[in-house]
Amino acid sequence: MTLEADPGADPGADPGADPGADLAAASRALAAARSVVVLTGAGISAESGIPTFRDALTGLWAHFDPQELASEPGFRAHPQRVWDWYAERRERMRRADPNAAHRVLADFARRHPGRLTVVTQNVDDLHQRAGCSDAIRLHGDLLADRWLDPCPRPAACSTSRATPGRPPRCADCGNLVRPGVVWFGEMLPLVEIGRAEHAAAHCEAMLVVGTSGAVWPAAGLAGLARRAGATVVIVNPEPSEIDAEASIRLRGRAAELLPRLLAPGSDAKS
Ligand code: APR
Repeated sequence: MTLEADPGADPGADPGADPGADLAAASRALAAARSVVVLTGAGISAESGIPTFRDALTGLWAHFDPQELASEPGFRAHPQRVWDWYAERRERMRRADPNAAHRVLADFARRHPGRLTVVTQNVDDLHQRAGCSDAIRLHGDLLADRWLDPCPRPAACSTSRATPGRPPRCADCGNLVRPGVVWFGEMLPLVEIGRAEHAAAHCEAMLVVGTSGAVWPAAGLAGLARRAGATVVIVNPEPSEIDAEASIRLRGRAAELLPRLLAPGSDAKS
């Protein structure tokens, strides 16, 4: 399973006529669910100051070519340019803090042990810093380093031994260090996608937050949950490519709506 952009789906569906009733219905569905999966995308970190990828003007891909900056051929062609771009993203992430959406998910997990599974496409560490240390990371970790090519030695060298540079490289074989994220055309980590699919196929409710649904296989998790009978709730200020999978679509920002859906005192069995 490789990271793919989906050209086909149509984001046409509008939310219900009564947002208040939709919010209450979503809250009840989450309250009734013994197992809840939350699938997050870049939109959940937008209010922490981390740009999304596809938002028209502010999205990273509005200014940069994903094939140039988020692919292995792009890195081999321009290692310094790509390394610098990730170094800047790492710096921006270190300056960011989890927002109310990240925090209320961690709080819900603390209050309801074993009931919540967080699956994220995000490579930032805001879920983890908020307290969701077991969030399933489908697209890797922006702060992790790994070798570009498999290390030729039996006991692979640690990237921490690499000679500093942009990017750092192995002093012995010249192997480059690259960020530990999943690039376009690359396989997702098998354990993580397996755990995410299992959780989606067995949950009673799925909350999809801040994703355009443009990238597979992550986007397929909502359909998997719906077909398994789960109530799928989407939180996004804009239509997404997976809106058709949702029973309830809530048009709004994550940091505003998630506390109303999940905080103690909401219907979520606090
Ligand atoms: N709250 C909720 N949703 C928001 C907010 C917000 N405050 N701000 C923006 N959004 C929504 C946008 O409307 C958009 O639908 O978040 C979504 C972000 O979509 P993308 O930028 O496409 O990000 P994502 O879906 O996470 O991208 C998937 O693509 O580029 C690759 O690997 C990268 O993991 C990423 C994957």
